Amino acid sequence: MSLRLGDIAPNFKASTTQGEIDFYEYLGDSWGVLFSHPADYTPVCTTELGRTALLKEEFAKRNVKAIAVSVDSLDKHQGWITDINETQNCRVDFPIIADENREVANLYDMIHPNASETFTVRSLFIIGPDKKVKLTITYPASTGRNFVEVLRVIDSLQLTAKHSVATPANWQHGEKVIVVPAVSTEDALKKFPKGVEIVKPYLRYTPVPDDVN
Ligand code: BEZ
Repeated sequence: MSLRLGDIAPNFKASTTQGEIDFYEYLGDSWGVLFSHPADYTPVCTTELGRTALLKEEFAKRNVKAIAVSVDSLDKHQGWITDINETQNCRVDFPIIADENREVANLYDMIHPNASETFTVRSLFIIGPDKKVKLTITYPASTGRNFVEVLRVIDSLQLTAKHSVATPANWQHGEKVIVVPAVSTEDALKKFPKGVEIVKPYLRYTPVPDDVN
């Protein structure tokens, strides 16, 4: 069965381009982004891994560790990384899992047989420090993911984990946020000293709280 939001992300051991890893040990107390790509030496995947490598500092700032997976071999991954680094002007230094026996792919339901019997689709899981699944997205092989959007979502997840707020459509870090309906306006005025803008009783905005970087 597929993983749902709030489920515990299953642990696994795997061979990666950075050696054998235990997934939970790799994550430690960090947030994690586990993402699959259909195959090595393919164009869209090349740009996706390059983009992730180029965003290294943005992931680090948010205490997020990336880890990629495909069902290709370690040898293939290593050769392909050279190509990614050359063509995308980057240095891939996060692990890529060689999931030749499809253990991780099956554990995370990354093979969608009506898309392909053998290759993973573009699945992506954001996992919190509590090892729970916070977000899942699934794209087909033909559509590359937007890793700036992944960072935007992480900003929202981290902010909303800490405060009784939600983020509106197209929200970007730094913009005002929504007070969740469970908080009364009376309590909101105490909780959010920067002020509460009441558009409707159910639609209330507040600036991003101070302790959020
Ligand atoms: C790609 O990464 O370019 C790709 C992989 C599988 C199917 C189509 C495109």
